[in-house]
Amino acid sequence: MFDFGVIGVGNMGGAIIRRGISSGVLDPNKIIIFEKHKEKVKDLIEMGVYSASDEAEVFLKSNRILLSIRPQGFVDLGKKVKGKINDNTLLISIAAGVNISKLKEIFGEQNKYVRVMSNTPALIGEAMTAISFDDSVGEEYRQFAVELFKSIGKITVLAEDRIPAFTGFAGCMPAYIFMFIEAASDGAVSHGFSREEIYALISQALMGSAKLVMETGLHPAELKDQVTSPGGATIKGVVALEKYGFRNAIIEAINEGTKASEDLLDEN
Ligand SMILES: NC(=O)c1ccc[n+]([C@@H]2O[C@H](COP(=O)([O-])OP(=O)(O)OC[C@H]3O[C@@H](n4cnc5c(N)ncnc54)[C@H](OP(=O)(O)O)[C@@H]3O)[C@@H](O)[C@H]2O)c1
Repeated sequence: MFDFGVIGVGNMGGAIIRRGISSGVLDPNKIIIFEKHKEKVKDLIEMGVYSASDEAEVFLKSNRILLSIRPQGFVDLGKKVKGKINDNTLLISIAAGVNISKLKEIFGEQNKYVRVMSNTPALIGEAMTAISFDDSVGEEYRQFAVELFKSIGKITVLAEDRIPAFTGFAGCMPAYIFMFIEAASDGAVSHGFSREEIYALISQALMGSAKLVMETGLHPAELKDQVTSPGGATIKGVVALEKYGFRNAIIEAINEGTKASEDLLDEN
């Protein structure tokens, strides 16, 4: 038997395995994976990770399994592994829009379920992850999930009904921030900065501001007020952001992301 199994080793599954190994939470020689595209897992196999011949082999040979495929693949996966799941198996799903009751419907009531939402800064150990435990999950499995996701960044434990809204901001946030950086860069390039230098400058300005919120604990509006002197450049920029609906656009993006994360599978 292996300590940990993974179905689907793409962006997220790959980040979780690689950082789990580098932080010492996972032992590569005790991991079994199944990924359709073998070129994505060459480095892991070289490290000693075992590549299974199909999904069922992962379920037969492991009691703690990460499901890191896209939501649309879950029903098919359930059919393939039916009758091949060991008793008391921990199933951790990171899929958006697949709730625990749907997981039970697909894989059976007898397993222990953890639903997780994270984001792609996991690739550099800076994810923001929410973990939601089904009531039946015992302390040992809870500890394992917490340690595993700490290896890709920060974690919070949430009730499952908070996961869609968390997805609407944290899961979707990287795309919003990348758009912000891109737009700010266009503005700066229009004032003579070169493309080569601008992304790093803007990213540092953004990261420094985010760190200031975290490290001072001050209300963001207070920090904004501190940098808007009367008649100054910053308040003029703030007024322009209000004029073009900046805050409203962000609130609406989070609303839409939340709604779309509620029950993805029920739409298929
Ligand atoms: N990317 C994000 O920002 C993000 C954030 C939070 C949560 N998530 C969730 O994380 C999950 C994975 O996302 P991702 O971005 O890592 O996706 P991804 O890069 O597409 O990785 C999934 C991998 O699993 C493979 N796969 C699909 N079905 C399989 C099966 N039955 N057995 C073995 N391999 C299989 C896929 O191959 P094919 O491409 O051929 O299907 C793909 O290589 C999704 O459910 C997503 O909702 C993603």
